[in-house]
Amino acid sequence: MAEQSVTISPPHNDAERAWLRQLWQAEWGGELMVSRGRVWCLAQLEAVIARVNGEPAGAATYRIDPADGCELVSINAILPGRGIGSRLLADVEARARAAGCRRVWLITSNDNLDALGFYQRRGYRIVAVYPGAIDDARRIKPGIPLRAENGIEIHDELELAKVL
Ligand SMILES: CC(C)(COP(=O)(O)OP(=O)(O)OC[C@H]1O[C@@H](n2cnc3c(N)ncnc32)[C@H](O)[C@@H]1OP(=O)(O)O)[C@@H](O)C(=O)NCCC(=O)NCCS
Repeated sequence: MAEQSVTISPPHNDAERAWLRQLWQAEWGGELMVSRGRVWCLAQLEAVIARVNGEPAGAATYRIDPADGCELVSINAILPGRGIGSRLLADVEARARAAGCRRVWLITSNDNLDALGFYQRRGYRIVAVYPGAIDDARRIKPGIPLRAENGIEIHDELELAKVL
């Protein structure tokens, strides 16, 4: 693979904010995310963009809650398997630590086996399972598919967390 320079920081300008909106539309069906029964607008959260040789290649959003640590709300790498997701996760963890958080947590869905492996190999533990929570979320966001591309029906939320 050619040498790549990766930078990670909040969006620099309107073009990058537009790129984020396009990413969220393509990957999450829009800007609304439902986790633990709460609805978040991705555009209103803290965001960081990963750029490879200056070109956006991934992004993460998160929110700092002094009472509850840092929730990683979304993470995407459009060039998978090249370390972008790892770099984004480490960047959000560093920002959470700098903000005084003692843990980072996130919700993923029962079908997302790649993400489950990805997080657990990076120190996250499954701390809760919420059976049927995605079925409830689908009532708020009807675009959530009933079945993932890997053939698994999507029903449940899994909560993972890492102590910083
Ligand atoms: C989860 C995700 C952010 C990981 O990002 P990534 O840039 O692929 O991550 P990395 O390259 O740092 O590491 C991915 C791991 O998968 C492996 N991998 C190899 N090829 C891969 C591919 N084509 N796609 C995904 N992972 C691949 C990597 O070797 C690495 O393995 P490891 O865990 O043993 O180190 C990314 O796959 C993604 O955007 N997924 C879709 C959105 C999603 O599900 N987000 C999480 C929701 S909770």
